[in-house]
Order: sequence, then C-alpha cells, then structure tokens
Amino acid sequence: MRIDVVTLFPGFFTQPLDTSILGRAASGGHLEVAVHDLRSWALDRHRTVDDAPFGGGGGMLIKPEPVAACWEELELGRGLGIYLTADGERFGHQTAVELSLQPHLVLLCGHYKGVDERLRERFIDRELSIGDYVLTGGETAALVVIDAVTRLLPGVLGDFSSAMADSFHDGLLDCPWYTRPAEFDGQRVPEELLRGDHGEVEAWRRRQALRRTFERRPDLLPAADLDDRELRLVEAWSKEREAGSGRSQPSLERERV
Ligand code: ADE
Repeated sequence: MRIDVVTLFPGFFTQPLDTSILGRAASGGHLEVAVHDLRSWALDRHRTVDDAPFGGGGGMLIKPEPVAACWEELELGRGLGIYLTADGERFGHQTAVELSLQPHLVLLCGHYKGVDERLRERFIDRELSIGDYVLTGGETAALVVIDAVTRLLPGVLGDFSSAMADSFHDGLLDCPWYTRPAEFDGQRVPEELLRGDHGEVEAWRRRQALRRTFERRPDLLPAADLDDRELRLVEAWSKEREAGSGRSQPSLERERV
C-alpha cells in the first residue's frame, strides 16, 4: 500500500514510521509512506500556509493554494483523499478494514482551526475522527490510521491468527491472556488454560471475551455474532446485574443514614 501524508510537521512521523511493525512493514515492501511538508508549496517567501477566517473568529485556517498546488504536483488525486478532523466520521475497525483494501491513501493533516472548506470539497473523499476530543493537529490521528490499517495488510503481522483474534475482529473485545509462570506471586493462571484441552481453551476465551464486552462495551453486543447460548448468557448476566443494582440501593441508603 502507498500512503502520502501532507502535513506542516513532517518530523512528527519520522520515528514512529521507522519503529517496530510499521518499520518492518516498510522494509518488507508492504507499506510505502511518503511524508510531504506543506510549506514546500507555500506561495510567498515567508512560506505562509495559513490565514484568518472570513467573518472573524479565533484561530487560523490552512489556505487553499498550497494544498491545491501540492495535490496537483504530486498527483495525489489518484489516491483516496482522507482528511483527519474532529468533526469527521468515527474511525473504527470497520473503516480500518475498508481502507486496508485500498492501494493508495492520501492523508491531509489539519492544524490550527483546520483547512479551508473548499479543500475538503475538492480533494477529500473521507473525513475521519479518531475520537470525541480535539487534538492539536491531525498528525496523531494520521499515525493512528496508518498503524491500524498497516497491521491489516497481508504479510505484515507474522501470526495472522493473532490479528484475527484481537479485539473487534469478531465484534467482541479481546479475552485476557497469560504467559509463564503459571503462578506469579500467588496469582494463578486460570486452570482452563493449563489442561492442554484446545476446545476448553477456545470456549473459555470466547466466554471471557463476551463477559469483558458485556462489562466494558455493551454497545458492541447488538452487532456481535452471538449464538443462542451466548444470547441467553448475556440475558442472564443482565438480569443478575439488575437484581444486584436493586439490592445495592437499600444498603447505600442504610450507609447514609
Ligand atoms: N484533529 C483534531 N482532533 C482530531 C480528532 N479527534 N480526530 C482526527 N483528527 C483530529
């Protein structure tokens, strides 16, 4: 996959793209990232790329001309244009999968108050937010997208089944994982993982993943692929919780009194 990144801070990307799995993806020929300094396409000798918004208001906007010149010179219109912005659609696993199927992504990182709206209309195919908070710029978000997409490219992760088992692959959070020693300072690894029964291990992991999702991200459950037994289990846990919260109310009252 080819990824072009257009940014005011190219240095931001140097080390992360060279490190660990992203670095190996590049040296292994799975990923080619080119980072472009938007200031190289500024029109004046001060290398200005931003200006105040029409109508006033705080902050500065990235001007249209440098971005347009960059897009044209590098022919970035050949790739899928992505703008990282807090008001974009939420980036998640499904979007990462969709993007991993593209041959060429172009990531535009906003800064200050963002970019002139006409750039979004002209060059951008998708606008992505990595969460409901405002970052100082799109660079951090671009790295998140590059990381999440790269690990899905065929050949990037040595153990593909490990990627498949990760959180979100099947709509559930990941289960807990343990390594040696079987007992650490009085904490014992669950017996189900120690008996060498593969079926038992799989069943335990699935149930733990379901339980963790139920506790931490119940919003994921309606879209998860659950069989009848699992649906009944979730129903039972929900009832238990309701009964539990019903009981805790009077005891809290008692404590206050
Ligand atoms: N730029 C600023 N905040 C952002 C966010 N939450 N996601 C993507 N890009 C951003």
